[in-house]
Amino acid sequence: MKRIGMLTSGGDCQALNATMRGVVKGLSHNLDDLEIYGFIEGYKGLIYGNYRLLTARDFSGILTRGGTIIGSSRQPFKLMRVPDANGLDKVKAMVSNYKKLRLDCLVVLGGNGSQKTANLLREVGLNIIHLPKTIDNDIFGTDLTFGYQSAIDIATNCIDCIHTTASSHGRVFIVEVMGHKVGWLTLSAGVASGADVILIPEIPYDLKKVCAAIDRRHTSGKKFTILAVAEGAIPKEIAKLEKKEQKKEMEKIARSYPSISYKLAADITAKTGYEVRVTVPGHVQRGGTPDPFDRVLSTKLGAYAAQLILQEEYGYMVAIVNNEVKKVKLQESAGKLKTVDPHDQTVELAKLIGISFGD
Ligand code: F6P
Repeated sequence: MKRIGMLTSGGDCQALNATMRGVVKGLSHNLDDLEIYGFIEGYKGLIYGNYRLLTARDFSGILTRGGTIIGSSRQPFKLMRVPDANGLDKVKAMVSNYKKLRLDCLVVLGGNGSQKTANLLREVGLNIIHLPKTIDNDIFGTDLTFGYQSAIDIATNCIDCIHTTASSHGRVFIVEVMGHKVGWLTLSAGVASGADVILIPEIPYDLKKVCAAIDRRHTSGKKFTILAVAEGAIPKEIAKLEKKEQKKEMEKIARSYPSISYKLAADITAKTGYEVRVTVPGHVQRGGTPDPFDRVLSTKLGAYAAQLILQEEYGYMVAIVNNEVKKVKLQESAGKLKTVDPHDQTVELAKLIGISFGD
């Protein structure tokens, strides 16, 4: 008999349901008695004792379903130690609800922030298994996160579609790809779709270099240019500043433009005279059905999590390391970000074929 708590936390992504299904199928196939408590809207449900008692049947038929059947919400880690409006101690409340339900383990599907809270709950004595979710692929200690590949597919498809219209009209197009802090998604979708310029937070851009790349294409007879730009792309002169000043400058931009892409578009037009259009696929990148790669990944991660629970091994993130599913101690991963190395082989080889990173 096992009593398992489960929650999905933070921004959603395509393979949350597929991953939960893997966990539950792995457990129900090996246990006669299983109780699953699904906390509604992530940690919020655990804090306020809002849950649904679920059965294995609830997890059947959801392999291809996007979103999350138990809902999600953002509950910032930095506020976890701050009492709520009614003075409730959130950590104590989570521990108390876990104990009240006599859970054997809490399975957390979430990104970086959610992982930090998972680690905090481990530190206060709860049995935790973390499954790495995010389209950003920025969780330290795992080569891959589920949701990432499906988001690459969508962002790539979006840039592919822009390609045809950009070539018809001979325009410069910016496609803004999700990722405030890291550029994995922009890098992959940019290379996959043959973008001419890729701008990511890890490689601050020089406007002159970006314009020169566009000019080069035009003088070589190419009438259009596609830029894949991460939400967190940053101009070189701002990246040089102290963190506080940097923040101020970025806030200034945010007051004048909907996002960095619009500022970049205005700057390119001012400098070159080219007509620039911006497309922001936004949350579309997190929506819809998981692709086959993510379905396989999620099934493996979920099944491995079930195996850990059956063996009563807790305090781990289930990760992909060198193409294998592995367990990684939560404390070794929590609080660290996996960013793109500016000399990553993909970056270097992309440069070799002429893609500009604006540096
Ligand atoms: O962390 C995933 C992510 O999709 C980021 O890439 C994006 O910047 C952010 O979430 C958007 O957050 P929200 O859904 O809260 O608007």
